[in-house]
Amino acid sequence: MHFIVTGGAGFIGSHVTEQLLSEDHYVTVVDNLTTGNLNNLPEHPRLKFLEKDILACQPEDFSKPIDGIAHLAATPSVTESWLQPLAAHHNNLSATIAVIELCQALEIPRLVFTSSAAVYGNPVQLPITETHPTSPISPYGLQKLVSEQYASLFAQQFGFSMVALRLFNVFGPRQAPNSQYSGVISIFVNAMRQGLPITIYGDGTQTRDFVYVKNVANAFAKALITSLTSGSCIVANVGTGKSISLVELVDILKTCFPQWQSELKFAPARPGDIKDSQADISNASTHLDFTSQWSVESGLQYLIESLDPVKG
Ligand SMILES: NC(=O)c1ccc[n+]([C@@H]2O[C@H](COP(=O)([O-])OP(=O)(O)OC[C@H]3O[C@@H](n4cnc5c(N)ncnc54)[C@H](O)[C@@H]3O)[C@@H](O)[C@H]2O)c1
Repeated sequence: MHFIVTGGAGFIGSHVTEQLLSEDHYVTVVDNLTTGNLNNLPEHPRLKFLEKDILACQPEDFSKPIDGIAHLAATPSVTESWLQPLAAHHNNLSATIAVIELCQALEIPRLVFTSSAAVYGNPVQLPITETHPTSPISPYGLQKLVSEQYASLFAQQFGFSMVALRLFNVFGPRQAPNSQYSGVISIFVNAMRQGLPITIYGDGTQTRDFVYVKNVANAFAKALITSLTSGSCIVANVGTGKSISLVELVDILKTCFPQWQSELKFAPARPGDIKDSQADISNASTHLDFTSQWSVESGLQYLIESLDPVKG
């Protein structure tokens, strides 16, 4: 099959691309390389790369037939969405509408949209199911929610099928160290590799559903190929279904870095940080046959093995 992956040179998109290639599919990656990097992608005879902004793409840029499009290109930052709301709106919402137009023009039967747990805002019950109230607390979360609604509206009207994947805290190789999602994992790993102290904001009992990126890539591959009737829409959380506290995270990391002897410090909790998060992944399991194969422990091990040795 032939799929388009927007944002395929980024952290998650490059793993989605690898997964699809490993399943013998053809992939066209569209990426404007704002935060992505060509080094994230392999050289592969079944991979085509188009360096272009998705908002500037025309149907003629692609060769048909296309069996599905995974739309990951975005400005994936809550902070950016507060600082530059109009720019974030264009790149998160208008870009999704551009992708919807491509689906129509190129008769693409499946759109997989990359949503986020940010659509839920502050959880009122755990684990979070897809029927949990959506009450975003950032422009980013709102842009993701409205994008889902656009995709669903057009899918029903024009007869393509749509899967919105609400990703929780993704981590793994190739994640930019300044990512606000799993900053905590990147920051802790970085500090431990260098023997530096670690600071937890709050008392460390706050929990997150950290999901290894290969689980996420798997969910995308399943969402692209699973059999769905035309016009149908599925919304599915993608996490592990388990949450761990930051103190537990540090304990796991200590087993990965037994030589780390530095200090664990605590600082006041940061305003706006949610206390707990945990995905209910039964929808993904029922509709996409998704299982979270890689645990946080094994994901961390893979991540640490992928890093270059510390210099100096
Ligand atoms: N990282 C997480 O934990 C997480 C959680 C929830 C949702 N998401 C979503 O997953 C997707 C991928 O995020 P990521 O963490 O891999 O970020 P990333 O920045 O590594 O990837 C985004 C990619 O999109 C490209 N891009 C951005 N705007 C573009 C445009 N207009 N046209 C073409 N390419 C464009 C960038 O160059 C980059 O390669 C985003 O939609 C993000 O909102 C991420």
